Amino acid sequence: MTTTGAKPPGAEDEAGAALAVRQMFDAIAPRYDLLNHVLSANVDRLWWRRAARRFRTVLAEPESAVLDICCGTGDMTMALLKYRPQGARPILAADFAREMLSRAARKFDARKAGAMVLEADALHLPLPSASLDLVVSAFGFRNLANYEAGLREFHRVLKPGGQLGILDFSEPGGLVGKAYAVYFRRVLPAIGRLVCGPGTSRTDGPYNYLPASVGAFPPPPEMLTLMEASGYVECAWQPYTFGIAGLYTGKRAPVV
Ligand SMILES: C[S@@+](CC[C@H](N)C(=O)[O-])C[C@H]1O[C@@H](n2cnc3c(N)ncnc32)[C@H](O)[C@@H]1O
Repeated sequence: MTTTGAKPPGAEDEAGAALAVRQMFDAIAPRYDLLNHVLSANVDRLWWRRAARRFRTVLAEPESAVLDICCGTGDMTMALLKYRPQGARPILAADFAREMLSRAARKFDARKAGAMVLEADALHLPLPSASLDLVVSAFGFRNLANYEAGLREFHRVLKPGGQLGILDFSEPGGLVGKAYAVYFRRVLPAIGRLVCGPGTSRTDGPYNYLPASVGAFPPPPEMLTLMEASGYVECAWQPYTFGIAGLYTGKRAPVV
């Protein structure tokens, strides 16, 4: 397997890739929510809700410790919060792009939501080992500079029996895949450029990076092998909307 991680144009190593990703998200933060909803015709909301519902049992436990890593502007966290009872331990919402995180913080404050923001790198979480019941990441994992290191870090912070959920894009096959490829590689970058403004590059702007990063992301069988090799059990992938996106799930093996 040759999988390593995201490689934005111009990045020469993992540190350079992480820096480029952080700078890109800081730059698009003011338009991120609008673009997301326009480009996905609001289907992203359904995906966040569906992923959150998958973890409703652990979320219903008031004391369970939950991390939304790569939380961006906080919409996945908001979906998770729907399943949290009153007075539950706050969900930790972490990201390394300050401009994205500050928008999440404002959203949580405005809605008096039970979530706390944390500026942190997914590959070096400032959290104790075996401290979390659930780690979720929506459309963030694909951007990590090293996928295996990310899976290992999430495994470290999960308690034995703790659950992982990774929601991300994939490339469907067949006719849907062909139609979607045209949208994703041609229409989406053009709309992205329109909304992001005339200064955005035609070849390496954030909405050119998006289809490139999905193309470079391991397909489900490879991703599941990577999860198992990183110590997860009960690994599975649930396709959403013809496989345009999907939810990876796995557990840190319980102590026997
Ligand atoms: C496409 S956005 C997804 C945001 C949000 N989860 C959502 O569903 O809309 C990806 C996010 O991952 C964050 N990210 C990428 N690499 C990261 C890393 N190594 N550590 C922390 N956050 C990271 C970016 O800053 C960005 O906010």
